[in-house]
Amino acid sequence: MGYTLTILGCGVMGQAILSAIYNAPAATEETKDFYPEKIIACNNSQNSSNAVQELIKSFGDSPNAIEVEYTVDQNSQAVKKAEVIVLATKPFYVEQVLKGVEVGDRLLISLVAGWTLEQFGQYAPVCTRVMTNTPAKFGYGMAVLSHSSAVSDYNRSLVRQLVGHVGSCIELPEKNMDAATALVGSGPAFVLLMLESLMESGIKMGIPLKESKQCAVKVLEGTAKMVEKTGAHPSVLKHQVCTPGGTTIAGLCMMEEKGVRSGIVKGVEEAAAVAARLGKK
Ligand SMILES: NC(=O)c1ccc[n+]([C@@H]2O[C@H](COP(=O)([O-])OP(=O)(O)OC[C@H]3O[C@@H](n4cnc5c(N)ncnc54)[C@H](OP(=O)(O)O)[C@@H]3O)[C@@H](O)[C@H]2O)c1
Repeated sequence: MGYTLTILGCGVMGQAILSAIYNAPAATEETKDFYPEKIIACNNSQNSSNAVQELIKSFGDSPNAIEVEYTVDQNSQAVKKAEVIVLATKPFYVEQVLKGVEVGDRLLISLVAGWTLEQFGQYAPVCTRVMTNTPAKFGYGMAVLSHSSAVSDYNRSLVRQLVGHVGSCIELPEKNMDAATALVGSGPAFVLLMLESLMESGIKMGIPLKESKQCAVKVLEGTAKMVEKTGAHPSVLKHQVCTPGGTTIAGLCMMEEKGVRSGIVKGVEEAAAVAARLGKK
């Protein structure tokens, strides 16, 4: 412990990573140095800063005694005080924000979609890109990491330790980051569309809204857990549900006819293509 971590842009994703680090269980002797003593949450408006304060107040004390400071329009001063900087503004503010601070050789952890390690290079050569998602706010997130070659082994461990608290975390080569942006970052919206559709199917056939929602949520959660726990390929588990001539195979064939699978694959590919264009604007 003993260092300061500054978050530039503490909106949806900034707050998700802040919550995950702030609420992380008490560190062990081996991991305690990875945790900051202080986090400075930087925003542009007082309203957004107040929202971060309210969030932290709702948690009570941090298990690692992390203190949080809230600033408005103080990026430069906050970066000067930090050993590690997290960048979580929208992609179109990144250039303006980085031009106003001096990161130098300190570690920059970017949560921004579309900006490449090469683009960050002139402002922050020691950089890790992280693609995570909104369930991170509740500890059920996924995170994909990609480091620049200048990131030391120590800092790689530090990022894994801190970001791991969003839920799960893996490392992939940077060439996979646009795909990860679509699959992981946009993924919750795609799953919510599926959840909504299941819910509406229940409503259409007469199950009340509350009960339809409860059924749809549990079906998605339970199925995901079953895949995780068994390690089996989804198609194997899918065929276990299909009685010959039965209801499930009939439903599946109709969905295939309507192009559900290719619609999902094409939708995720489209999101990745947009992610690839984001940093170039
Ligand atoms: N939302 C997602 O599901 C998701 C998923 C994966 C990745 N991401 C990535 O995460 C990043 C942040 O997205 P978000 O959804 O969290 O956006 P957001 O909720 O709009 O948060 C951005 C924050 O940046 C602050 N900000 C803007 N200009 C600033 C400045 N000059 N200095 C300091 N703070 C400033 C804003 O504060 P004010 O309100 O005070 O202006 C706001 O709190 C994006 O780059 C996005 O690509 C998002």
